[in-house]
Amino acid sequence: MNTKIYGTGSCVPEQVVTNDDLSKTLDTSDEWIRTRTGIERRHIAKGSETASMLAVKAARKALENAKMQPNEIEAILVATTSGDYTFPNTASIVQAELGAENAACFDISAACTGFIYAFSVANAYIMSGMYKKVLVIGAEVMSSLVDWTDRSVCVLFGDGAGAVVLGESETGRHITRLHSNGGKGQVLTAGGLKKEYIKMDGQEVFRFAVKKVPESIEEVLQETGVSREEIKYFILHQANVRIIEAVAKRLGLPMDKFPVNLREYGNTSAASIPILLDELNRGEKLQTGDKLILSGFGAGLSWGSTLIQW
Ligand code: COA
Repeated sequence: MNTKIYGTGSCVPEQVVTNDDLSKTLDTSDEWIRTRTGIERRHIAKGSETASMLAVKAARKALENAKMQPNEIEAILVATTSGDYTFPNTASIVQAELGAENAACFDISAACTGFIYAFSVANAYIMSGMYKKVLVIGAEVMSSLVDWTDRSVCVLFGDGAGAVVLGESETGRHITRLHSNGGKGQVLTAGGLKKEYIKMDGQEVFRFAVKKVPESIEEVLQETGVSREEIKYFILHQANVRIIEAVAKRLGLPMDKFPVNLREYGNTSAASIPILLDELNRGEKLQTGDKLILSGFGAGLSWGSTLIQW
């Protein structure tokens, strides 16, 4: 048995905050943010808008795209570090809103690699025969975790959610490799006893990403015997366009194999990969049989890649 994505969906808040908007209250500029990161705008939740609200909207679209009903879903996994409550988990709130009464629900915390971790769990459930249809969601309100007076961090992040419905398939293909290095955890932190905002050693994170992401892509390619040229798109976590360009360069591949949408959304953490996947799907850029690599990296430190067949 193998797995396949049957539907995708995404949702971002309506409120848009541009680089110029930020430069009205911070000592920053559109030029600095664009040239260092590629980000031009981000969508930011308003007032009472939560991760579960974005997740529900993304999930409804994914179910509609998959032509499935909520009660067919046997598990809902939400990758998030900015969920509505400590408990109940965000997945349970999504379940109640959708009316997906047959689903087991839990959240997965692996920061910007969260979607890859959650996706691998869903794949394992399906490949073991435990479940047949699983909803995997990445949903974040990162704006609640940043100090809006800290220009070195707040300009980078945005809010949003992306969802996929994963199910069994005779023909699909899937392999994931995941990694963590807790010894380097302090380079990117949030929360803790003092409930602190995101703190980051930006350059260290940058160096980690441009080394580990190509390595993990190579690892998945080697294990599957698929060549890098056979991969239609490398769908990387959208943190910084310079990270994506450096990964493409290290792999010796052109940037047109690396779709980028971070100029519109910033870094939406666990949501960035499924939002981009949904855009490609709805833009009819994906054909049956296409091989894709999804690759995440972030706090933990954590990183991982998965090869899937559309
Ligand atoms: N606007 C203007 N100046 C800024 C700024 C901002 N928003 N943020 C920082 N600066 C300043 C710094 O204070 C520093 O000034 P100084 O030289 O007077 O001390 C200068 O710009 C350079 O800062 P530096 O941190 O060296 O810049 P950088 O080239 O490393 O770029 C990042 C910073 C954050 C864009 C970059 O390190 C990065 O993208 N890292 C990865 C972060 C990431 O993706 N995290 C999430 C991973 S999931």
